[in-house]
Amino acid sequence: MDGKISSNIIAGQTVHEKYGGIVPELASRAHIQNIIPVVDAALKTANCTLQTLDAIAFTQSPGLIGSLLVGAQFAKSLSLSLHKPLIAVHHMQAHVLANLIADEKPSFPFLCLTISGGHTQIVLAKSPYDLQLLGETIDDAAGEAFDKSAKLLGLPYPGGPLIDKYAVQGNPHKFKFAEPQIHGLDFSFSGLKTSVLYFLQDAMKKDSSFIQNHLDDLCASIQYTIINILLKKLKKAVRQAKVKDICIAGGVSANSALRKAFKDLGETEGWQTFIPAFEYCTDNAAMIAITAHYKYLAGEFADLSISPSARAEW
Ligand code: KG4
Ligand code: ZN
Repeated sequence: MDGKISSNIIAGQTVHEKYGGIVPELASRAHIQNIIPVVDAALKTANCTLQTLDAIAFTQSPGLIGSLLVGAQFAKSLSLSLHKPLIAVHHMQAHVLANLIADEKPSFPFLCLTISGGHTQIVLAKSPYDLQLLGETIDDAAGEAFDKSAKLLGLPYPGGPLIDKYAVQGNPHKFKFAEPQIHGLDFSFSGLKTSVLYFLQDAMKKDSSFIQNHLDDLCASIQYTIINILLKKLKKAVRQAKVKDICIAGGVSANSALRKAFKDLGETEGWQTFIPAFEYCTDNAAMIAITAHYKYLAGEFADLSISPSARAEW
């Protein structure tokens, strides 16, 4: 009730690694196996019981429908049996509000660049309940650009954190990749993937060990391009929206070079910058809890007829 996080248990799913991406059917099966032990561990860590909870929150959209169904049905069953209110949470709203977990929070209105494996969005947050979408990707998400580039480099899924790791030793200016010219505040990342693909095909024809010999520089250069695309648009959005408190969120905001580049840009531009703690960037329970906290305060409860939705309607 105090807006503080008491536990944040996450069950990772390594089963997808060998497939180069998430396999939806395997994801929902793993959710069924994980959900009771995870809830159990969360209650134990928080030192509470089901009876002492104030409400039951779940992710309603967007996402893989099989996985969403597992969570939604479980939450509805708990809500019904415990006579506790049910709270439906939007995954992308939760990524933005992850910035409110910290002691030093952004003030409303603030701008948030949310960068995940499925979405890339610039959002103007006027309150916890009023988020306005200013721009988004017209094709791939930034996380997909990381993961698909990593796959072309022969790295396992998800490749984003590995690119981050190898890039630390690499030269970000060694190779140049195409940056798209997209009007307004929208993004595009599919051209980058194609540019990396053609570049690698050409280089590997001349030297079959090219990737192996230049992995660090390739990772650093790809990462540099993605960060540049993201931050240029963010700068444009801030100038238009005329707000001073600026956040990033979502899995890609765990990227070490992006975190630094964002902070540096904020200093140059005179922004107050905010990034969720590392563990609240990639998908996590705490961001759902903080969003549920604000919805609880506003009395925004769901009834048992609610269904999850794969698509992201704001
Ligand atoms: O928000 P998230 O956990 O899940 C979705 O809602 O999609 O984001 C996952 C994405 C993946 O594409 C993953 O590669 C990327 O976040 N990611 C990173 C890093 N950590 C996670 N990308 C770059 N650098 C990282 N350190
Ligand atoms: Zn996410």
